[in-house]
Amino acid sequence: MHVFLTGGTGFIGRNLVEALLRRGDRCTVISRSGTDLWKRPEVEVIRHDPKLKGPWQRTVNGCDVVVNLAGERIVEPPLRWTAARKTRIRASRIATTNRLVDAILEAEQPPRLLLSGSAIGYYGPRGDQAVDESAPPGTDFLARLAAEWEEAARPACTKTRVALLRTGLVLGRDSPFLASLVPLFKLGLGGPWGDGKQWLSWIHIEDVVGIILFVIDRQLDGAFNLTAPNPVTVEQFARTLGKALGRPAILRAPSLLLRLALGEAADALLNLQRVLPARALEAGYQFRYPQLDGALSSSI
Ligand SMILES: NC(=O)c1ccc[n+]([C@@H]2O[C@H](COP(=O)([O-])OP(=O)(O)OC[C@H]3O[C@@H](n4cnc5c(N)ncnc54)[C@H](OP(=O)(O)O)[C@@H]3O)[C@@H](O)[C@H]2O)c1
Repeated sequence: MHVFLTGGTGFIGRNLVEALLRRGDRCTVISRSGTDLWKRPEVEVIRHDPKLKGPWQRTVNGCDVVVNLAGERIVEPPLRWTAARKTRIRASRIATTNRLVDAILEAEQPPRLLLSGSAIGYYGPRGDQAVDESAPPGTDFLARLAAEWEEAARPACTKTRVALLRTGLVLGRDSPFLASLVPLFKLGLGGPWGDGKQWLSWIHIEDVVGIILFVIDRQLDGAFNLTAPNPVTVEQFARTLGKALGRPAILRAPSLLLRLALGEAADALLNLQRVLPARALEAGYQFRYPQLDGALSSSI
């Protein structure tokens, strides 16, 4: 199988490419830097910005599957969402998806599946309510971003099946989320944030890759929540991470402090949701890491 990827150089993309190579698949990755992480003939890296039109779009023709993961990080220094930053966050996803969909629509031999990125922020803040893929989108910035990202992918469905990856917080070695938390916890400065009662829907990287391959192999489509079946509260998450590191996790970062420090970007830490992977479970996917303690032990 020949897979074309945007965002193939990122945390999820790298792990997916490695898994595809282990199965004997071939990959073409478009990257702004052109970094060739693999240096193997089975991976072709095209140096181009996927937001921009270019000859790269013709390479989508004849690929079996397209995976669209490109997107500027939502929580990364400088943390505040200025208007310019929001524009970059949005364009990195929507313009990339538009160019990719154009490429699919123009292909004589379109792929049989487009897996396109999204996030559980799609659902907006939900308190204690558990949501599956049938829930409608929320209205805050992250929810509108995810909904628009999904909408941008949908026109491809006249030529191919479209699966949408509503991804939760991804754990695993090299997880950007853990990379920012673990050093604080190791110093004994970790603990819950906000009131600690928000639900945090996490997933291990092996299950992200596992579900993507499952969707490809079973020829599925539609929206999939990429989250483990057992979300936890932020309080439970902090306690479990502290225990895994053998450090106390008692310091609390109150919502007000986060709002003052981060402005609207604090939404990414405070406006969380309790998301269940109903469709993956119904289709028979078996999670390798259904529980947080096991997922964290293999991540730190
Ligand atoms: N990791 C998570 O916990 C998580 C959770 C929910 C949703 N997601 C979504 O899943 C996708 C992949 O996540 P990840 O953790 O693998 O992300 P990542 O490590 O930050 O990688 C993002 C990729 O997007 C490309 N990119 C970044 N900024 C870009 C820009 N301005 N224009 C065009 N391309 C750009 C980069 O490629 P080059 O630099 O090579 O061009 C990189 O390969 C992201 O879109 C993210 O929003 C991730």
